[in-house]
Amino acid sequence: MEQNRGSWGSNLGFLLAAIGSAVGLGNIWGFPYKMGKSGGFTFLLIYLLLAVFVGFIIMMGELSLGRKTGKGTVGAYHTMSKKFKWIGWLAVFSPFVIMSFYSVLGGYCIEYMSLNLSNLAFAGAEIKTGSDLFGAMLTNPFGCVMFTLLFLLICYLINRGGVSGGIEKFNKVGMPALFVMLVIIIIRSLTLPGAMEGLKFMFVPGYAVKAGFIAEAPKFATVLATAGGQMFFSLSLAMGAMITYGSYLSKQEDLVKNSAIIVVADTIVATMAGIAVIPAAVANGIQNGIPLNEIALGGPSLLFVTLQDVFQAMGTVGPLFGVIFYLLVLIAAISSAISLIEVVVTYFMDRAAEKGKEGNRPKVVLLVCLAIMVEAALVAVDGLGSNGIWVPGQASFGIQGWNDCWLDFMDMMSEGIAMPLGALLMSLMVGWEIKPKSLLDEIHQGSNARIDGFFSFCMKFIVPLGMLLILVGQIDTFFSLGIF
Ligand code: PHE
Repeated sequence: MEQNRGSWGSNLGFLLAAIGSAVGLGNIWGFPYKMGKSGGFTFLLIYLLLAVFVGFIIMMGELSLGRKTGKGTVGAYHTMSKKFKWIGWLAVFSPFVIMSFYSVLGGYCIEYMSLNLSNLAFAGAEIKTGSDLFGAMLTNPFGCVMFTLLFLLICYLINRGGVSGGIEKFNKVGMPALFVMLVIIIIRSLTLPGAMEGLKFMFVPGYAVKAGFIAEAPKFATVLATAGGQMFFSLSLAMGAMITYGSYLSKQEDLVKNSAIIVVADTIVATMAGIAVIPAAVANGIQNGIPLNEIALGGPSLLFVTLQDVFQAMGTVGPLFGVIFYLLVLIAAISSAISLIEVVVTYFMDRAAEKGKEGNRPKVVLLVCLAIMVEAALVAVDGLGSNGIWVPGQASFGIQGWNDCWLDFMDMMSEGIAMPLGALLMSLMVGWEIKPKSLLDEIHQGSNARIDGFFSFCMKFIVPLGMLLILVGQIDTFFSLGIF
């Protein structure tokens, strides 16, 4: 059975796929905005410290857990632990929930790419503003469902091809293409008049408050929780993705080096994405006399309102940059989505193998994608709350985070709670139950880096403490409890 499980064609292929998983919507609309709002360099510094002492450690932990057991998330935890067997389930549940909104957002990207394509083809036709377009899209549930379906169809075709024949192949072309497109957008963005204000917002400590982008600086604990939550989501941690990808990696590859490359690459792309979008958004806002605190610099509105306006203000070449940009975001979304789907698919494939049967990958991928389509339809029809089908909101007990829309609800369950909780439990399991040495043995198969002391210390003390703070911080923000 083992040899049928599949594996990466090369270490470079694995790296591109793992970086593809990490680089996603989180990098483009989360990182730059949160960085600006939370004090520029202060945030970057905290982010980097967390990335080294927590992200890098968990990355190594997850990759080695997957490779050691040769199994997906559920199987890996089952094999390794007695007390924490069930964490694997958390890490299959979360990707499934994340896909409910990730695929809807992916659908929006396809829709915007097509819109810009038609603007390019029919130059001179009447062009709507970003917010009109976004509003029209959200209140057309049928269209949103169809584009979500199209997004999932693309993912289905890739995942069906298997780990090396589908996922690796896509990323080998997609990642370099994404990088080139990002550079093109950066050059265009930085040459817009007023772009410097945007750069200052991102990098100069305290500038966001001084220039009037936000009213007051967030508290330190909030910055810590924001940076931590962002780091987890962005690095695809505590979602089973890296355990799953690690389980397909050959024993001689260097897990220490690979983990470092993934963390560094993801951070670089997040910063680059910031330089591509924030200066353009700010420059356009200034030109149109929009008060700085009213320019949407994060979340869905950044991508689908602010930036669409930026492209339209560029005149005839605008739609071309629009097509390039939304294609770039689409590739980032696909490469992350296929890793989330693979977590669930691998679980079913492993289960079949355990029963001595050979899993039917195309059938499993199809069923997983169909199940995702059902939950995603809810988020798509809801249209970020525009269409009034928010049910849990009616029983939200006055809790703010639950009031908005289905997307926020799904996000809170997965990113807000399941991810930090999963990482906390994982570090407790590795640090205190199975002991760091059990994973260090695996790590040393392909690496002789002297990281034993650092790995053990972080896994035992720093990660659990950091995760606890992040978890409380996330619950605090989502439920507006006012603990911090
Ligand atoms: N890292 C992805 C992003 O930044 C999201 C993701 C999370 C993908 C967890 C896979 C697993 O958007």
